[in-house]
Amino acid sequence: MASVVIRLPDIGDFEDVEVIEILVAAGQRVAPEDSLITIESEKASMEIPAPRAGVVGELAIALGDLVSEGSPILTLEVAEESEIGMESRAPASHVEPVSRAGTDAELSAEVAVLGGGPGGYTAAFRAADLGKSVVLIEREPTLGGVCLNVGCIPSKALLHLAEVIAEVRELGDRGISFGAPEIDLEALRAHKDAVVRRLTDGLASLAGQRGVRVVTGTGRFASPQRIAVEGGPSVAFESAVIAVGSEAVELPDLPHSDPRVWNSTDALELREIPRRLLVIGGGVIGLELAGVYDALGSEVTVVELLDALLADVDPDLVRPLERRISRRYADVWLGTRVIGVEPEADGLRVAFDGAKAPESAVFDGLLVAVGRRPNGQRIAAELAGVDVDAAGFIHVDAEQRTSAPHIYAIGDVVGPPMLAHKATHEGKIAAEVIAGLPASFDARTIPSVAYTDPEIAWMGLSETRARAEGIEVEKASFPWAASGRALGIGRPEGLTKLLFSAETGRLLGAGIVGRNAAELIAETVLALELGADAEDLSLTIHAHPTLSETVHFAAEMVAGTITDLYAPKTRQGSG
Ligand code: NAI
Repeated sequence: MASVVIRLPDIGDFEDVEVIEILVAAGQRVAPEDSLITIESEKASMEIPAPRAGVVGELAIALGDLVSEGSPILTLEVAEESEIGMESRAPASHVEPVSRAGTDAELSAEVAVLGGGPGGYTAAFRAADLGKSVVLIEREPTLGGVCLNVGCIPSKALLHLAEVIAEVRELGDRGISFGAPEIDLEALRAHKDAVVRRLTDGLASLAGQRGVRVVTGTGRFASPQRIAVEGGPSVAFESAVIAVGSEAVELPDLPHSDPRVWNSTDALELREIPRRLLVIGGGVIGLELAGVYDALGSEVTVVELLDALLADVDPDLVRPLERRISRRYADVWLGTRVIGVEPEADGLRVAFDGAKAPESAVFDGLLVAVGRRPNGQRIAAELAGVDVDAAGFIHVDAEQRTSAPHIYAIGDVVGPPMLAHKATHEGKIAAEVIAGLPASFDARTIPSVAYTDPEIAWMGLSETRARAEGIEVEKASFPWAASGRALGIGRPEGLTKLLFSAETGRLLGAGIVGRNAAELIAETVLALELGADAEDLSLTIHAHPTLSETVHFAAEMVAGTITDLYAPKTRQGSG
């Protein structure tokens, strides 16, 4: 037997948390996961589990004591490592052999996860839940990655406010007028930061509850079995999951160090509201943030290199958005390239190359949103035998395995689409494969959403691709102008489009533009996964009046049973 000190694991940003219950006594035998004590912060109470089996020795705390990460809780008499055999779980965060007290130069874990974004933390938590000891390495002080800290979550908090501002403005046409909004940028920033903090705090405690040790620092592979962490302990592992994400692409010849030239992270900081804002890139990020700053009062211009906004999306789904922003924004210049930026006394003079744009114009702020690139080349993957392509992507098989069989990769770094929900799905697969479960990536589709106003959501086969590839489909487009619910909320510009296989009748793809499209697309994803056809969707009773009925109505159009519209059945061929 050996004596080990059990210490309080990482419990997030909390310090001096009160011990409110002691659930074990000296001499008591505990199994892994048995609760030892309960602690309570201002926000939550949390039980701290035993990281491994043993007999409780001396208690190092008393009721009412204040404890922080690393505080000793008790000693545990445990079997020697060599005697442990199959005893599976000994997270480094909890267990520190007495003889090694204080030495933190190297940690070891069954699974090391590099990167704590949605993909990385999901992989780490799932692996821990499956009994693995896990170390999660994250360079930023909080978990959650780009999505949670400076991407999806803060942008959605702001987009909601933008939607409310727009809605209130438009109520004037329906007989209710409010004054112009007064914007307190500091309060707005505090609200957005609070949303983010709540989630990142939650992640820290979820990590603590699972015994996942979080190491803060930039990690790079030092060998096929070890990750070196700048400013932290290195981590020896049996299996590793690479979840290092992507970064914003910068445009050459742009003064990116000028504080008026922003990437999406800068834009989400809400430092100021530029009077004239130029958004470079008519993709998802550009158009979402354009919507935020338009609502906050900027005069927005969008410049896009290609001849279409959201070029990957079917044009009929983008049109309602185009119509709306062409009324609101100063200009949208398609087929236009930014060729130079010169600081001038009254702003940044931007030169353009494109038939529709002027030669140059002056703006107070620039938001560059021209795509993201993977971080695969930043982690010395070659030292671990992991192949990375010239663009920085790491190729994986259906089990998320890289060219090194014990190292897995997930999320943005393995390829598009660069979406959080793809990363989390892949994170679970990697963790399950490592734990010996029969998992692999076999999702039939990954939905995409542009959280613009109106929202655009799409999944599966697009009409553009069906045409290009000669796939015969039966198509129905249900116009929201015929939806009582859409009319009631004053947003009849939407469209719900379904594409069914002309051969099998099964749903192949869907696209929705309109209020709440992001939520509505879920039904079609499930329908696709389950192999549903138009009859399945049209015979499923949907509540009335709802926007979800538009999926039902579109299916009825294909089934030939619609009565809410006069729409002869259409069959669309490859021509
Ligand atoms: P994007 O690829 O969606 O759009 C970038 C746009 O910039 C393209 O239309 C491109 O043609 C244009 N562009 C490139 N160079 C240009 C230039 N020199 N001048 C003018 N336009 C130029 O990339 P974005 O918006 O930066 O987003 C990156 C990725 O992040 C997305 O592809 C998506 O995977 C992810 N994301 C997803 C979100 C969501 O699901 N709602 C939200 C934000 C990002």
